[in-house]
Amino acid sequence: MSYTVSLSEVTGATPGHQGKDSLTITGGKPLYGEVTVRGAKNSVSKIMVASLLTGAPCIIHNVPEIDDVKIVSKMIEALGGVVKNDGEGNLWIQTKEINMILPEALHSIAGKSRIPILFAGPMLARLKEALVPELGGCNIGMRPVDYHLKALEQLGVGIEQIPAGYHLAAQKLVGGNIKLDYPSVGATEQVLLSAVLAEGKTEVSNAAIEPEIMDLIAVLQKMGAIISVDTDRVITIVGVKELHGFTHTTITDRIEVASWACAAFATNGKIFVRNARQFDIMTFLNKYRQIGGQFEIVDDGIWFWRGTELHAIPLETDVHPGFMTDWQQPFSILLTMVPGASIVHETVYEDRFGYVDALNKMGANIQLYKECLGGHTCRFGEKTYVHSAVITGPTSLKGADITIPNLRAGFSYVIAALAATGTSTLRNISLIRRGYEDFEDKLAALGAQIG
Ligand code: EPU
Repeated sequence: MSYTVSLSEVTGATPGHQGKDSLTITGGKPLYGEVTVRGAKNSVSKIMVASLLTGAPCIIHNVPEIDDVKIVSKMIEALGGVVKNDGEGNLWIQTKEINMILPEALHSIAGKSRIPILFAGPMLARLKEALVPELGGCNIGMRPVDYHLKALEQLGVGIEQIPAGYHLAAQKLVGGNIKLDYPSVGATEQVLLSAVLAEGKTEVSNAAIEPEIMDLIAVLQKMGAIISVDTDRVITIVGVKELHGFTHTTITDRIEVASWACAAFATNGKIFVRNARQFDIMTFLNKYRQIGGQFEIVDDGIWFWRGTELHAIPLETDVHPGFMTDWQQPFSILLTMVPGASIVHETVYEDRFGYVDALNKMGANIQLYKECLGGHTCRFGEKTYVHSAVITGPTSLKGADITIPNLRAGFSYVIAALAATGTSTLRNISLIRRGYEDFEDKLAALGAQIG
C-alpha cells in the first residue's frame, strides 16, 4: 500500500472559520422579503463523491457556497481530483486517478463531516482498497457506522480496524442482498456508491428514500448505472462495468427552505423562498399549516407567513416521508409560540434535544422525557435516551448569550433570537456556515437587525 499524500501535506488545508465567529441579533422585528435557496448540502456532497466513480469530468450546477462543499472539495483534491468552482454555483470535478491517503489526513480535512466513509465504494472500485477514518460521535447522537461496514462486508469487502479508522479491501465488489436495520441515509448511499460498479445485482431493503437519495440515484443513472426503486423501500442495483461523466442540477435544500419558513412565522413577517419545492417538503407544510402557519405555492417558490389562529400539536420525526429530524429544531421554536402543550418525539437521533437548555434560559418552557411520548414507541424507548419533549406555550423569548453546539441548533437559535425581545449574542456561528449559504446577508436583506 502506498500513501501518495501524507498528513503533513494536507494539514492546514482545513478551511478555517471565515470572518468573525459571533453575531448579535436584536429581535422583535418581522422579516419581510425574499431569499433564494440553492442546492441541498446533503445532496451536493454525495454527488461530489459520485464523481469519483469515473475518471471523466463531472459538472454540478446549483451548488451553494457553504463550508461543507469546500470541505468535500478539499478531500477530493487530497485524493487526487481536480475541483473547479466558478463561484456562481457551478462545480467541475475530474479525478483521473485516485490516491490512497492516510485516514488521519482525510479526517484532518473532514472534521465532523460524515462524508469520508462514503469514499469507500469509489476507492474500492478504482484501487481495490480504501482507508477511511473513524468518524466518531457528535453532539446529536453516537452516529456509528456499523450499517455501512456490514453492508460493505456483504458486498465482499474485507474490513480491518486500524488505529485511525478502517482498512477496506476487495479484489472485486460483488452484489448481495442487504437488509438495513434502519433506513439510514448514509448506509443507503454507501450501498449505492459501492454496488453500482459491483459484479451482479444488489438488493437493499429497508433503504432510505429521502429526496437527496433520489437525487444521487438520478446522477448515478446519468453516469450509466441501473438502479430501480420499489415502493416498499427496496432498491435494486444492477452492477455495470464502468460509469461516465455527468451534468446535474441539484435539488433545492429543503432544510434551509423550512428554516426560512420558520423564521417568517417566528418573527410574524412574510418571506418568499425562491426555489422551494413543494414536493420535498409536503410533510413540513402540513405541520406548518396545523400550527397556524400560512403558505402560498407559486411556480418558482413558496411564500410563508404566520396566520392568526395558532395551535399546539403532537409531532414525531421520522425518515422520509416523515417529518425530518433536521426540521425539528427550527420548528420547535414555533411551538414555544403557540398556545397549549405540543409534544415532540425525536425518533431518528437519540440525543437531539441538547439545544433546549438555552431556549429555556431565553424563556421557553420545554421539558424533556426519556419515554416515547405521542403514542408510538421507537427504538430509543427501551434504552432510556432523553428523546421526547413537551413544549408549553405561548412563552415570549428574551435575548441571551448563546454558544452554538451544532449546525441545525445554530440556525434555530438565530430564529429564536430574531423573535426575542432584546439583543442576543450567538457564538460559534461558523458552524451555521457549513449548511446555510450567505445567511447573514440574507438576514440583513430581510430586515433583521444584526451586527
Ligand atoms: N445509524 C447507525 N449506524 C449506521 C448509520 C446510522 O446506527 O451505520 C443511525 C444513526 O446513529 C442515526 C440513524 O441511524 O440514529 C440515522 O442516521 P443516517 O445514517 O440516516 O444519517 P446520516 O446519513 O449520518 C444524514 C444527514 C443528516 C440527517 C440524517 C437523517 C448528511 C451529511 N447528513 O446523516 O443531516 O440528519 O441523514 O436524515 O447527509 C444535517 O444536515 O445537519 C444533518 C445532521
